[in-house]
Parts: sequence; C-alpha cells; structure tokens
Amino acid sequence: SAPDPEALRDLAVTVAAEAGALAAEGQAGITVLDTKSSPTDVVTKMDRATEELIRARLLAQRPHDAVLGEEGGDDAGTSRVRWVVDPIDGTVNYLYGSPDWGVAIAAEVDGVVVAAAVNIPSRGEMFEAVRGGGARRDGELLRAPDAVPLDRALVATGFGYFPERRVQQARVLLEVIPHIRDIRRGGSAAVDLTGLATGRYNAFYERGLHAWDWSAPGLVATEAGLRLGGPHGGPPSEDLVIAARPGLYEELAELLAPLGADTDG
Ligand code: IPD
Repeated sequence: SAPDPEALRDLAVTVAAEAGALAAEGQAGITVLDTKSSPTDVVTKMDRATEELIRARLLAQRPHDAVLGEEGGDDAGTSRVRWVVDPIDGTVNYLYGSPDWGVAIAAEVDGVVVAAAVNIPSRGEMFEAVRGGGARRDGELLRAPDAVPLDRALVATGFGYFPERRVQQARVLLEVIPHIRDIRRGGSAAVDLTGLATGRYNAFYERGLHAWDWSAPGLVATEAGLRLGGPHGGPPSEDLVIAARPGLYEELAELLAPLGADTDG
C-alpha cells in the first residue's frame, strides 16, 4: 500500500525538531572539521552528527526506506520511500553564528516529493508541507504574496563553491541586477525558499544546488503557491533552480535564459 504522506510529514517534523535542537546546542564553539569540494565548502562535526541522528531516527521508524543525505551519501532501501536530507543547510552561516541555517527533510514516494519539514531553529520557525495539502509555518497555513513585476522583485540567490562557477555567477548577476529591486545572498537555500513562502523574498534562482538543498523547502514553496522549476522550462536541477509566483517566474526565467545562468560559462 502507498505510504501516507501525512504520516511521513509528521515523522519529518518530529525528526527535524530533534535534529534542529541538537544542531542549535552545538553551534557555540563550532569549528571547521573538513573541507569538501573546495576550501569554501566546509563541513562541521555538527553537520555529521546531525545527519547521523536524522538517519537513525528515520530508519528506526521505517527501516526499509532509502536515505540520501548531504554528508552521508545514498543508502539504498526496499520500500517506495526515499528521504532526502540536509542536516544543516547554510553551514557557513552556522559556522559564523548567523541565524540563517536550517534542517531540511523531504520524503519522496516513487521519486516524487510528497512531504517535507524545514526547521530554522534560530528563527523559531518550523515549516511543513504535504503535496496537495498545503504548506504551514508553525501550524499556520501559508500563501505566498502575489507576484510583483520583475523590477520590484527582491531576488535571493547563492553562489557555488567552485571559483570558475562563481565567476560565471557574478557575470550573470551583473546582467540581472539592473532589472530587479535588489539581490540577497542569505547563505541557505532552505531559508531562501521558505522565505519566498512567507514573503521575505519575491524570487529565487541558483545554479549548482543539490536535491537535498531544494527538495524539502521546494515543496513548502510550491504548496504556498510558488512555481519551482529549472532550465528550459524543466524541473529543478543541479544546473539551475528558479522559484517565484507564476508571472514573475516567467519574467525571471526569460531574463536568465540567454545569460547562461545554467552553465559554468
Ligand atoms: C548551501 C546553501 C547556500 C547555497 C549553496 C549550498 P550547505 O548549502 O544552501 O545558500 O548557496 O549552494 O551548497 O552546503 O550549507 O548545506
């Protein structure tokens, strides 16, 4: 029988709450443990400890599920469910004591994201969503503010960890910034995408994200009425993620298309 999305959401929320508390406790005195793809791509011991906790809690309840996590890789399962986990999204903020980081847990059934939790402990915000069932912040139903024209849009973005990619992202930004209200680089895709649902930003785009960055907050965004997509009208991908209210989404996508926002130049 098909797994119940609401039960998956409840488990995601419970585990994200415990994981967020653990990470928040560990934020004081945190240091870089390692670097990953480049010197700017850091991992702390709390990224690893938090992901271990999340995996253990999910698999204790649902031992046959698969788990894809930012730090621990891909564990195969035998059920129809795969969990997609970012234990600390916004690791650099976390390291510097900034509030904008979060725990993101999504559940896919047969490859489709159906349930999600995003916990932003320093803001005291717990987001949750079920596909077709709406998005909530701390229990309250969310509806993203209406679209604004592109020249009034506050646009959030981020930069990858590779120097060549960053140069191209800066080139794209040069062409974007004259056409929008302003740009924000918050440092956490989970905070950015949930921030679209609450109206802190109007639009978002970023190249080089991974499924764990966009799956959970992306469901919150779409369930709050936003469109989430990728390059050439396709789904979100590592090449490019775009999110905004319909109308603004198309304006931003059209602006980005000829700029090479989905390439490294
Ligand atoms: C990062 C954040 C950041 C984005 C990076 C991501 P991490 O996630 O979401 O905003 O610009 O591309 O890698 O590494 O802190 O989990």
